[in-house]
Amino acid sequence: MLNRLNHVAIAVPDLMEALKFYRDVLGAQVSAAEDLKEHGVTSAFVNLSNTKLELLTPYGENSPLKGFLERHPKGGLHHLCFEVDDLEASMEILQKADTRILNQPKIGAHGKLVIFMHPKDTFGCLLELEKSS
Ligand code: CO
Repeated sequence: MLNRLNHVAIAVPDLMEALKFYRDVLGAQVSAAEDLKEHGVTSAFVNLSNTKLELLTPYGENSPLKGFLERHPKGGLHHLCFEVDDLEASMEILQKADTRILNQPKIGAHGKLVIFMHPKDTFGCLLELEKSS
């Protein structure tokens, strides 16, 4: 089912400060920040040669990141995203394995359909699947 690791997402309390750190201290190439209103997050990407980091901070009052940052005020590893060829087929496999899917496929940060799995069903790590094409 799984193809490439698409990105590793890190939740941060201050996106501009985090971007500055990756750009100015670590010397990485970073993207502009983008508000994803329907996801309740503002995100920016750090581009690496083999994968990306997605830096996330809450957007709006009902951001799903709020609780996470209350538990991890300094920020922390939030999710991993893997590419899959066929999202529908992947969802069927997950359903058969009693792995809870948290959302109907929705457009994620790269304009591609994504789903998330419940971290209690995936050994403690929130996993995202993104349709490769
Ligand atoms: Co993501």
